Amino acid sequence: MNIFDEVNNWEKTEGAEIIASILDVKDPVILDYGCGAGNYSFASAYAFNQKCKVYAADINRQCLDHINEKAGKENICCITTVMGREDYRHDFEDGTFDLVIYADMFHGEEKIYNGLHRFVMLEEAKRTLKEGGILAILPFHLSNFRDKDKKKCKYTYKKLTDEIIGSGFKYIDNDLQGIHFEKVYSPYYLQKGGVTFDSLERGRILVFKKSI
Ligand SMILES: C[S@@+](CC[C@H](N)C(=O)[O-])C[C@H]1O[C@@H](n2cnc3c(N)ncnc32)[C@H](O)[C@@H]1O
Repeated sequence: MNIFDEVNNWEKTEGAEIIASILDVKDPVILDYGCGAGNYSFASAYAFNQKCKVYAADINRQCLDHINEKAGKENICCITTVMGREDYRHDFEDGTFDLVIYADMFHGEEKIYNGLHRFVMLEEAKRTLKEGGILAILPFHLSNFRDKDKKKCKYTYKKLTDEIIGSGFKYIDNDLQGIHFEKVYSPYYLQKGGVTFDSLERGRILVFKKSI
């Protein structure tokens, strides 16, 4: 099996089990914001046997084209791709989603908010989640975060969790682990070769419930 087959297999098995364990709702509406290649969108589609609506949003058109093409090949009709906005806000109405997924989205040097885009993303999650809706965050690169004063700051899961609780969410303890898929698609690693599925980094999925 090549690594892409193994990733597809993960979406149908472990990935789907993770999403199903996070969300116990019939016919859910899900947002995977900054979806990249859409691995968590596909895992969501499989988690609910496609009896769900998944919005896969990204600012990169190539990501959306890739997802549409793969969904076509795999006969998946419940994923809708959406173009993201530079300001990380979106046009979905208040109270739309049962689950919002932010996988590998919170670190970095982004320009508009000088690395503090996560606060806008948390506001958008709070606004667009239904009452009791779930926010699933898979953070990587914790050493490359910025604190509220925009200073580079090494984060821990605890520090990030406390911050998210302060943004109006209740933490739900779990021991779920997600995968850092970056190396699967990065041109640098594609050219270098040698990346195996088992060598991909795994990290904790932080799960929260929207509190009133
Ligand atoms: C590190 S990748 C994570 C991809 C995916 N969530 C995963 O876990 O594999 C970050 C993604 O966020 C997207 N992105 C960056 N800025 C964005 C924005 N303002 N709105 C939507 N997506 C954005 C990038 O195009 C990229 O696909």
